[in-house]
Amino acid sequence: MSNPSLLILPGDGIGPEVMTQVKRIIDWYGEKRDLAFDVSEDLVGGAAYDKHGVPLSDETMAKAQEVDAVLLGAVGGPAYDNLDFSVKPERGLLRLRKEMDLFANLRPAQCFDALADFSSLKKELVAGLDIMIVRELTSGIYFGEPRGIHIEDNMRVGVNTQRYTEAEIERGARAAFELAMKRDKKLCSMEKANVMESGILWRDVVTEVHADYPEVELSHMYADNGAMQLVRAPKQFDVIYTDNLFGDILSDCAAMLTGSLGMLPSASLGLPMANGRPKAMYEPVHGSAPDITGQGKANPIACILSFAMALRYSFDQGEEAGRLEAAIEKVLADGARTGDLMGPEGGTPLSTIEMGDVILAALDASL
Ligand code: IPM
Ligand code: MG
Repeated sequence: MSNPSLLILPGDGIGPEVMTQVKRIIDWYGEKRDLAFDVSEDLVGGAAYDKHGVPLSDETMAKAQEVDAVLLGAVGGPAYDNLDFSVKPERGLLRLRKEMDLFANLRPAQCFDALADFSSLKKELVAGLDIMIVRELTSGIYFGEPRGIHIEDNMRVGVNTQRYTEAEIERGARAAFELAMKRDKKLCSMEKANVMESGILWRDVVTEVHADYPEVELSHMYADNGAMQLVRAPKQFDVIYTDNLFGDILSDCAAMLTGSLGMLPSASLGLPMANGRPKAMYEPVHGSAPDITGQGKANPIACILSFAMALRYSFDQGEEAGRLEAAIEKVLADGARTGDLMGPEGGTPLSTIEMGDVILAALDASL
């Protein structure tokens, strides 16, 4: 049997630096756990624009459709800020999500004990925090038509459309209920049913799907209240299910509760392929961080944890994913810190490569 295949798209900014550490981890699994992958690498975002004039070439798109999982670093940077909208780095990412039909975006917000002091909230509010946001990723206002900027009565008008079919709401809801079943069996659905028809439909459909998951305790919240509750008492949540735009905003909010964006992974999952694995792309929640690019300072943990999610959700290797997560918890508990994790007590931060070194050492020690 051939090895499972991975397509690595390091992208822009710190993407390549953090991805280099992930590649070391992937190699470790091949050597030490008999879990080898066929890895190929390609360009996305500004890096692809520089070479091909588009943020994702058709060839790369086709490759992404064929592999068992895609690992993406980050896209974007100041050099590309003034490009035409249609070729901005972000369009590469959005094309991957849309054409692979990655409708369920899993964004865990977990607070590592060793880092509870880094949160902008009081330690007792975030210690032990473990939330999973499921963001609908392929529809809603990100993709709805009509869209554009046009002239009306000599004035420019900007238009975007929030549009959801019940099938789109339903498949994401099923993914969220399934996750809730494996966790604390609590699901909170967030929309704006008080002002948006799409929100009314959202609430109806989620309630209908609930009939198939009677063990899960379902609640509904307006998304603005959800944002408030996330910073007031985040531990009340287990799984949150919300739309593309609210999910974008709420997941950044939830991420910061944990202290550092440099820690959080994500998985974007679609329908099962012929081999039973879901279409999948894994990426850190953080961006390309142009301010620290090329300085060897970036925290590789979010990207490494994204590979752990790949082990769990694409390759059915939950135990090996747990090994990697435990190794990261161990090095943090031992005091390993990149620059973004330096507290008021100071100290010498580890470089990106040194953080990779200590995680690999912890993996070795786990055998
Ligand atoms: C995210 C990002 C993207 C989004 C951007 C880069 C297009 O903010 O993944 O949360 O808005 O979805
Ligand atoms: Mg975002």
